[in-house]
Amino acid sequence: MTFKTVKDLLDKSLADWAVDNGAQPNLTRHASTGHPPMVWSTAADLRAAWGKGMPLIQPEVVGKKRGSEANLVLALRTGVAGKPRMPLGGPYLLIPKFRKSLTGSTRAVLTTRSWTLRP
Ligand code: HEM
Repeated sequence: MTFKTVKDLLDKSLADWAVDNGAQPNLTRHASTGHPPMVWSTAADLRAAWGKGMPLIQPEVVGKKRGSEANLVLALRTGVAGKPRMPLGGPYLLIPKFRKSLTGSTRAVLTTRSWTLRP
């Protein structure tokens, strides 16, 4: 799986959130002092991004069959480190209504146990 695939999944999540909430999300409150912002305009942005004091993608999970351990995957599946599931308040990508609209590879980011994020 590529960073582009993960970026597409995140973009989809925020687009769904905006429709459901009738407003654009304000992600700036994820900012983590001393770390790059939680943005993903480019794959490089995504690779560097931190949210709420943790990297969205821990460097050690890249290039190994550890994609499902990435903090952003945990955040979208269940919530990470005791924080609420993302995007806040839903809609969550894996509920049936939204799951259907994911393409195979974007869906696989959330549903495959063992996948490799290609550097
Ligand atoms: C490291 C992973 C993440 C953690 C720990 C986290 C945590 C949080 C928390 C605690 C809030 C509540 C509001 C606040 O205190 O500022 C929040 C808001 C939110 N998060 Fe996350 N988040 C993470 C990643 C993400 C990702 C990847 C997305 C994108 C899909 C996302 C989407 C949102 C949205 C849409 C809100 C509400 C924004 C608004 O009210 O305008 N978060 N997040």
